[in-house]
Amino acid sequence: MDLYEIARTARDNAYAPYSGFKVGAAIRASDGSLYAGCNVENVAYPQGVCAEAGAISAMCLAGRREVAEVLVIADSPEPVTPCGGCRQKLAEFAAPGTPVILADLAGVRARTTVGALLPGAFTREHMTRAHA
Ligand code: THU
Repeated sequence: MDLYEIARTARDNAYAPYSGFKVGAAIRASDGSLYAGCNVENVAYPQGVCAEAGAISAMCLAGRREVAEVLVIADSPEPVTPCGGCRQKLAEFAAPGTPVILADLAGVRARTTVGALLPGAFTREHMTRAHA
């Protein structure tokens, strides 16, 4: 399966009874391995987790740490971009030039990058003067 198919299948399994808005995400790690995630909502609304966060967790669980490509899929009139929190989560594991592909049920709709989605990201370089 390719990145689109993996994300689309993940979206089918999204748990979104409160918003009714299912999202799927897929990550290709730097070694070519693929990871998927779906949004998982909760009756305590802030405890819900985005699809991108699930895919990042799956990648880390497999021991991978470098995101090479991300695809997000939802059923919406405009392509869905990762939320602000997920942009920061992706920036932890992805270089600014990492492609982010935005898709809907008809196919790929747009392409951007992690750096374009989160200019001026807070990075570990900002903490070089921190003391433990
Ligand atoms: N959501 C994601 O999973 N990823 C995004 O990029 C945007 C929003 C989820 C969170 C929530 O479960 C639902 O979509 C509506 O906000």
